[in-house]
Amino acid sequence: MNFPIWVLLLFSILIGDLHLTTAQNDFWLNYCSNSGNYAQTESYKQNLDDVLYSFTGTNNGFGFYNSTSGRANAAALCRGDIEPETCRRCVDDATRRLRQVCPNQIEAAGWYDACFLRYSNRSTNNGFGISAYGWNSNNVSDSDYRRWNQTVAVLLGRLRQEASGGDELRKYASGNITAPGLSTIYGMMQCTPDLTATECDDCLAGAVREIRRFDRRLGVRVYKPICVLRYENYTFFDSTWFPVADPPPSGEWFLGFFN
Ligand SMILES: *[C@@H]1O[C@H](CO)[C@@H](O)[C@H](O)[C@H]1NC(C)=O
Ligand SMILES: *[C@@H]1O[C@H](CO)[C@@H](O)[C@H](O)[C@H]1NC(C)=O
Ligand SMILES: *[C@@H]1O[C@H](CO)[C@@H](O)[C@H](O)[C@H]1NC(C)=O
Ligand SMILES: *[C@@H]1O[C@H](CO)[C@@H](O)[C@H](O)[C@H]1NC(C)=O
Ligand SMILES: *[C@@H]1O[C@H](CO)[C@@H](O)[C@H](O)[C@H]1NC(C)=O
Ligand SMILES: *[C@@H]1O[C@H](CO)[C@@H](O)[C@H](O)[C@H]1NC(C)=O
Repeated sequence: MNFPIWVLLLFSILIGDLHLTTAQNDFWLNYCSNSGNYAQTESYKQNLDDVLYSFTGTNNGFGFYNSTSGRANAAALCRGDIEPETCRRCVDDATRRLRQVCPNQIEAAGWYDACFLRYSNRSTNNGFGISAYGWNSNNVSDSDYRRWNQTVAVLLGRLRQEASGGDELRKYASGNITAPGLSTIYGMMQCTPDLTATECDDCLAGAVREIRRFDRRLGVRVYKPICVLRYENYTFFDSTWFPVADPPPSGEWFLGFFN
């Protein structure tokens, strides 16, 4: 895989364990909160079992999962270009794997390239807070920096508009841009589809502000709970598969809204 040296960091609530993982089929980052474990609270464990057991059925058909049982909330999002079967496998793997790496934690999150999953006893409003970041250790050269910076800004502006203009099933945009003399930059942005266009745009604007700390880096990932920004100097998404807003053909997939 095209996976350069990433330096990974988890901000916001710095109370969790930090695991750096590089092995295949592993999260590129996972978070296990140590603010409480459920060894003593069997009811929460039951809630979490329930919410994850029925999780597959909460797919909105386009890779957004969101479910609540008792005090346990869980949500997952596949990258917008991931095909349904791959997405389902990714989320299934994530639910299994996250319980293994965070065996007793009330709150946990795990990020794969194709999907990410989180659960918590906190309210799902604003996506319960944990964000993941990553950046490529390579920098753009000084001589290219100014033009490269402007080029990234143009790409991100375009993707932000397109992603927030998506529908209630999928808010995703990917694309590339090439400026003379620079190598191509590939980017994607995505929001959970339950957001309004304004909420999505606000979240992505926040993500764009956060890339300041990764100035000059050739690749950056900002995974906020409800929106995602990523760009690289190589292609990391599939631009050939674009779901259309029709019910998926297989009976295993259905559309639904949960309020
Ligand atoms: C989540 O669980 C922790 C640990 O038991 C507890 O301190 C916290 O108050 C709970 N949060 C909510 C919103 O219930
Ligand atoms: C998830 O679903 C719950 C109810 O099932 C809802 O209250 C909440 O707003 C949803 N969260 C997201 C991020 O869609
Ligand atoms: C990229 O720039 C950062 C910050 O200026 C620096 O710490 C880092 O060593 C640079 N990386 C490389 C590969 O030169
Ligand atoms: C780059 O973008 C152009 C359109 O802007 C598109 O035709 C092409 O397929 C894209 N390439 C990749 C690798 O996404
Ligand atoms: C471009 O420059 C601005 C201003 O210095 C900075 O905030 C921003 O993070 C830069 N963008 C990239 C992609 O490095
Ligand atoms: C991305 O940048 C790195 C570091 O400059 C370079 O080695 C690599 O060839 C670039 N990848 C592409 C696809 O241009």
